[in-house]
Amino acid sequence: MTDTTRQDFRFFHRLRVRWAEVDMQRIVFNAHYLMYFDTAMTDYWRALALPYDTTMQTLGGELYVKKATVEFHASARADDQLEVALKCRRIGTSSLAFDGAIFRGNEHLISCELIYVFADPATQTSRPVPIGLRDIMVGYEAWEPMVRVELGTWQALGPAASQVRTEVFLEEQRIPVDMEWDEADESAVHALARNRLGLPVATGRLLQHAPGVSQIGRMAVNRLLRSAHVGRDVLQALMLAATQRGDHEVRLHAQRSAEGFYARLGFLPRGEPFEEAGIVHIEMAHPLKPGL
Ligand SMILES: CC(C)(COP(=O)(O)OP(=O)(O)OC[C@H]1O[C@@H](n2cnc3c(N)ncnc32)[C@H](O)[C@@H]1OP(=O)(O)O)[C@@H](O)C(=O)NCCC(=O)NCCS
Repeated sequence: MTDTTRQDFRFFHRLRVRWAEVDMQRIVFNAHYLMYFDTAMTDYWRALALPYDTTMQTLGGELYVKKATVEFHASARADDQLEVALKCRRIGTSSLAFDGAIFRGNEHLISCELIYVFADPATQTSRPVPIGLRDIMVGYEAWEPMVRVELGTWQALGPAASQVRTEVFLEEQRIPVDMEWDEADESAVHALARNRLGLPVATGRLLQHAPGVSQIGRMAVNRLLRSAHVGRDVLQALMLAATQRGDHEVRLHAQRSAEGFYARLGFLPRGEPFEEAGIVHIEMAHPLKPGL
């Protein structure tokens, strides 16, 4: 495994070594490396667009670590910026074998092999890895997309979109029910992202604010899948729909906490912040190029 390079991996999880994790020689205490791999594994599920608990309930099993081996080539130090790479190398009947590597820049510090067994949580007896999960993992390692965004009417996508909006806006952000649902849903173009198990994971909607000007709203991503670019995929699908219908600008009311997300995709703030549904917002806008 010492000849492992970054090119061997699709998945990377970034972390910075904390002072509490180093020993008196200022190098990382060896037991922490397994924790780094475990933390990265949580992020790997996110990259697959699979919220772990719901996914395991849907599949009727749980993953248990059967074996973990770590090989040390060089040490990480306090304040190092590391990347933990993971790859599903082999899927057996009921086992999943992962290769892991920790890099500091291009330098390969640590190798790891993790073997998981898919098992019945009640009896802890092994079960065959479900074909759906197998396909997703093989697809991920082959660089296939992990979510599919579809556009449609409220009639078609409303039930699934409502599920995501209820979790994010009503339960998480505690927005009053009567402010969440309005008649604009009926005329809007809705975007819905589903993961490869068919579970709805993100949504957003597109309204006509004025001739030539679109308005995007109700952007919501499953809490466990944030920062895995699902929101970006939904936003871009809505912007493309706005462009294709000939609009020259798209605007939105961004919660201030989400301003950075929209700014990353080229939206610029406009005017002064204001309050909506008890949350501070700012208007942001993005020009569209017709014909794209
Ligand atoms: C805001 C939200 C839709 C973003 O979706 P997401 O899937 O987490 O975002 P993505 O992973 O697609 O982010 C794309 C980029 O923006 C960055 N980003 C995401 N959220 C950010 C934030 N709140 N502030 C700054 N940057 C952010 C990501 O790091 C990523 O950067 P990269 O391309 O350099 O990796 C999601 O966090 C969400 O549902 N929040 C709760 C509901 C909400 O606030 N909705 C917005 C109402 S206006």
